[in-house]
Amino acid sequence: MRETPVATVNEISPLSTAVRAGVDAVGEELTDLFQDYLALCDLNESETLALAYTTDSRPEYVLAVRGAVARIGARLIELPIASQMTVRAPSILRGMGGTATLDGASLERIKAADILFDITAEGLLWSPALGEVLASGTRTVMAIDPPEALQRMFPSQELKLRALANGERLGRAKTLRVVSDAGTDLTCELGQYAARARYGFSDEAGHWDHWPSGMVATFPNDGTPEGVIVANEGDVPLPFSRYLSAPVRFVFEKGILTSIEGGFDARLIRDFIDSWHDPRGYDFSHLGWGLQRRANWAAIALFEGERMMCQDIRTFEGNFLFSTGPNEVAGRFTPCHLDIACRDVTLLLDDEVIVENGVVKPESLQ
Ligand code: FE2
Repeated sequence: MRETPVATVNEISPLSTAVRAGVDAVGEELTDLFQDYLALCDLNESETLALAYTTDSRPEYVLAVRGAVARIGARLIELPIASQMTVRAPSILRGMGGTATLDGASLERIKAADILFDITAEGLLWSPALGEVLASGTRTVMAIDPPEALQRMFPSQELKLRALANGERLGRAKTLRVVSDAGTDLTCELGQYAARARYGFSDEAGHWDHWPSGMVATFPNDGTPEGVIVANEGDVPLPFSRYLSAPVRFVFEKGILTSIEGGFDARLIRDFIDSWHDPRGYDFSHLGWGLQRRANWAAIALFEGERMMCQDIRTFEGNFLFSTGPNEVAGRFTPCHLDIACRDVTLLLDDEVIVENGVVKPESLQ
């Protein structure tokens, strides 16, 4: 990026030649895409958008947001945040373990803004400050995946309605069971934590979402996940962003991951969790299923080498996504976070089949 931010907060004039030059540099098409997206988030000319980015964010997204906000006529404040690569961490920060720190002044500006657009390289998702931001009513969205993914899986009101219907079903369930031919059989209780519907944009106060998305998730009741999840060959542990070459067996007892068995992949996963020296990394985190019909499981192979959050994998329609590590609602923060996406799983809520071998079954949820 040509302009290296030197201040904590930059206020960008919509009419500045720098903004126009940015649109020229990044191209009209990407600026159009971001303008359409911000319109979906209901950004209007009387509002303020706070843009958070790190030095390792995609520079074209900074330019596109500047151009899009200027076209809409809204006010833009920019919050350059120190790269998380500079944060002293005991292990490798990658994927959904973002813990970018916000200074107090930046946090207050975000809370006063109408929209927070988070394009920090690892996302502010697990930042302790995020809860405060959402409680203030700021609509918050995150985008990290490549432009092609943003465009292909561009969200819609139809996706929102479908995600809300699935979220409502998950939210009233008391028990969940997952089984698969690969050997998965795990149960847990639900109801302690709210279900969440993710549909890719935020048009409601205090809603957090991720562009692109399409999924529902919740945290199981504390201490209740019991059983085995077998991630099969071809399933994906994230942030490793690689397809498993052989099955990996995860054993949970009273909500704690007590065993990871399998081949080389199992060892990599164990090494990663152990490297944090944080027992919270072994807690069960969230679980749910994907709803994004344009997601492509081949994305990791096709986007090889690109920085990405792999929303193709996380949101793939009919997947089963479970995770280990944090639960910010319970005040459990840890950057040691794995999302593991599995195909061909059958998921039951209160004994009703919701997903059968990777296909969402109830007509009302399709
Ligand atoms: Fe996650």
